[in-house]
Amino acid sequence: MPSYIGKHASLYDLFYSDKDYKAESDFIHQLILETNGNEYNELLELACGTGNHAFFLEKKGYSILATDNSDGMIDQAKIKASERSSNVQFRMIDMRDIGDIPRKFDVILCLFDSIGYLISNDNIRAVFKNVYDKLNEGGIFIVEFWHAAAMLKGYDPIRIKRWKFENSEILRISETSIDIRSQTCDVRYSIYQTNNDGTYFILEETQKNRFFLLQEMSGMLEDCHFNIVNNFAGYNKEKAINEDTWHIITLAQKVKR
Ligand SMILES: C[S@@+](CC[C@H](N)C(=O)[O-])C[C@H]1O[C@@H](n2cnc3c(N)ncnc32)[C@H](O)[C@@H]1O
Repeated sequence: MPSYIGKHASLYDLFYSDKDYKAESDFIHQLILETNGNEYNELLELACGTGNHAFFLEKKGYSILATDNSDGMIDQAKIKASERSSNVQFRMIDMRDIGDIPRKFDVILCLFDSIGYLISNDNIRAVFKNVYDKLNEGGIFIVEFWHAAAMLKGYDPIRIKRWKFENSEILRISETSIDIRSQTCDVRYSIYQTNNDGTYFILEETQKNRFFLLQEMSGMLEDCHFNIVNNFAGYNKEKAINEDTWHIITLAQKVKR
């Protein structure tokens, strides 16, 4: 089921306005360069959201097809693309359906824990197999996932955040419940927008996402014939992965079967 439905998609960039997409995109570009010089050009992004990584990576010279299964997120990305005369191609594609894309890529990205929306091992392996097939020989897959150790140690059952936005105030309550057996969280977002003219808007959306341990993710990628090149504690090469690492980035390479 798609997430970030309707108005929720138009608020996404506000909610993540403190996320440093430029630094993250620089980090991704550096990993790509270190893996294969500057020979990689064709890039496919899965679950691109509103395009924040894609717009920065385009400036590094990649030709980008950016996909997501939320029409709201793709609409936002297309509006931004036309405002900044970007050539990133945005298409609404569920990552389970990338087998239908009639070409191959040098790099495939799936960032900011989006892989966890697939929930089951079967879904995730099916996507990894398609990613493998859609990569050129030696191509790389960079996947960022929610780390189980940090989640279990430190998740907040309830978080409240507030933003001032144009002539309104927005309050978001996130209520998280965990199911240990399936390694998933249900995050229920309740969003209240109050406008200066006295009108208001309320929306609710519950998202289910999965968290993983490092060996579990590596095992699923290796089952699909990827070679694990490296793992990072977020967008950082210096930090060690430990129980306080919330997001792990895995760099995997397509090897011959
Ligand atoms: C946390 S957002 C990350 C978006 C973007 N990668 C970023 O870094 O801002 C998760 C994204 O995954 C997308 N998504 C969830 N399930 C998906 C699926 N099965 N296929 C494609 N996109 C999916 C959502 O629509 C949403 O845009």
